[in-house]
Amino acid sequence: MIAKIEELLRRVEDFRPKAEAELEEFRIKLLGKKGELTALMDEFRTVAPEMKRELGQKINTLKTAALDRINTLKQEFATAGSAQGGTDDLTRPGTNDYPGSRHPISIVRNEMVEIFARLGYTVADGPEIEDDWHVFSALNFPEDHPARDMQDTFFIEKNPDILLRTHTSSIQVRVMETQKPPIRVICPGRVFRNEAISSRSHCIFHQVEGLYIDRNVSFADLKQSLLYFAKEMFGEDSKIRLRPSFFPFTEPSAEMDVSCNLCGGKGCNVCKGTGWLEILGCGMVDPNVLEACGIDSTRYTGFAFGMGIERIAMLKFGVRDIRLFFENDVRFLRQFSPAL
Ligand code: PHE
Repeated sequence: MIAKIEELLRRVEDFRPKAEAELEEFRIKLLGKKGELTALMDEFRTVAPEMKRELGQKINTLKTAALDRINTLKQEFATAGSAQGGTDDLTRPGTNDYPGSRHPISIVRNEMVEIFARLGYTVADGPEIEDDWHVFSALNFPEDHPARDMQDTFFIEKNPDILLRTHTSSIQVRVMETQKPPIRVICPGRVFRNEAISSRSHCIFHQVEGLYIDRNVSFADLKQSLLYFAKEMFGEDSKIRLRPSFFPFTEPSAEMDVSCNLCGGKGCNVCKGTGWLEILGCGMVDPNVLEACGIDSTRYTGFAFGMGIERIAMLKFGVRDIRLFFENDVRFLRQFSPAL
């Protein structure tokens, strides 16, 4: 029996198969139900007890050596196969790589830019770190207006004239100062407010503001342009309504509501049963603003509007918590992937 074990051990060590099929054949001949090693183990049960220890050890060594050899050879065949590309199964499903996607705020901003581009608006940009003139003074904010208060605005401590813009209206001032009417621009961008009203409020958000200045621009033009925007953004059946409001830079001013696209205007918990959602502020540009920016208010009139992108995105996608836009949790973001 010892001779048989040693012979098998030698055969295992010397085994050099040329093909994978040969290896499988060898495995079955050795370890299969009727294999030689299996037969040896059966025989082992019948040997004299004083022989068991030595023989048992030898059989174990043989078994481990055989299994090791077979596994190594198997792996060699696998790597050789994939190196040649020969044995790869090309019909196997691929690994599912997540392709990435735009942030929902970018998706909505781009859509707004496209909608207004169809009405002839171009995009204007400006700095996030601004001065008092472009954010407040040129826009007809009185010296003591509460919006200038430390609570709303991030001032640079050493120089209170320098601050983080609280709205993108500052871009519109820069456009009016450097361009001649007709002017038709929208100003998307990031804005900063020192708000701590609730744990949900965020000191950074995004706006798109618009400005149209020409001869004979009227409130009817404002209303029609914003109705077009609402229909493009929320669907053809959308309605709008304007409620009187106040902004220092527009007169008259209004707050615009759009009919709730979630309940079709019947009333639900998102529109708090009213059927309407407030989405933007707007109005006719105050003549004082036109004059401050070097535009002749006796010849030109214009309208302006401004809205938060987060608000529009929440309503469009049914997002209930604004913080999701800033947390950047992949489980949230991947829902906006076009591949899904
Ligand atoms: N600038 C205003 C805001 O940030 C929005 C607005 C823009 C209102 C233009 C009217 C006209 O709240």
